[in-house]
Amino acid sequence: MDSKDLRRNRTLERLRAARPAVLPSLLLCDFGNLEREVVRLEEAGVEALHLDVMDGHFVPNLSYGMPIVSALRKLTKLPLDVHLMIEKPERFAMQFVEAGADAISFHREATSDPLSLLAKLKGEGVAAGLAYNPGTSMGPEEDSHLTACDFILVMSVEAGFGGQAFNSNALSRLQRLRRDLGDDVLLEVDGGINAQTIGPCVEAGADLLVVGSAIFKQRDYCEAMSRLADAMQPTH
Ligand code: DX5
Ligand code: ZN
Repeated sequence: MDSKDLRRNRTLERLRAARPAVLPSLLLCDFGNLEREVVRLEEAGVEALHLDVMDGHFVPNLSYGMPIVSALRKLTKLPLDVHLMIEKPERFAMQFVEAGADAISFHREATSDPLSLLAKLKGEGVAAGLAYNPGTSMGPEEDSHLTACDFILVMSVEAGFGGQAFNSNALSRLQRLRRDLGDDVLLEVDGGINAQTIGPCVEAGADLLVVGSAIFKQRDYCEAMSRLADAMQPTH
């Protein structure tokens, strides 16, 4: 196994060992003091960070790009999970690898040829995933794409903005993926996850729970994380 395979395997093992894990989405963090934000999140026990990259074209919102990913790479050893909400993700994906991403997902709707980018990312030592908006088909015609993923990002809101309401069609998608694909693939869910919706997501099979507002709109991140951890406990 070469060093790139080792790196990708290490990331996947780390994420698997942490599951179910809450991944804070930094969209709403204080960008004026990233270092302090990272320290606060590490102190609250987070296992990885989720970074939302938006281009103002694929989604009607603009966020940040490679410089923020590189800045975070210098501030933490936590895995960096980059969610590309950009058109033609193949144009920029390698720059996010260079910036220090450990895992990268891109949208199924944004590319006609997901397999080559998934393979390219894996070859570079990065865990590779495909993201699906709630209305995008994940039917049998998607099987060859889904089985090529290290992880699958099931959107529980339409990609683009934080603070939207959870779309419960994500639950049946997670159940179906877990049943059909087994335990090896990591399932990530993103959008509207809070203390009410996180438990059902874990029960449906989600491993990685992306949370924005329910952490960053709270004063105390430790408290927010422990509320989410409690809500993830099985109820039976
Ligand atoms: C939506 C982003 C999410 C989002 C999560 O396009 O991918 O990561 O910011 O935020 P909340 O938890 O507020 O829905
Ligand atoms: Zn996201």
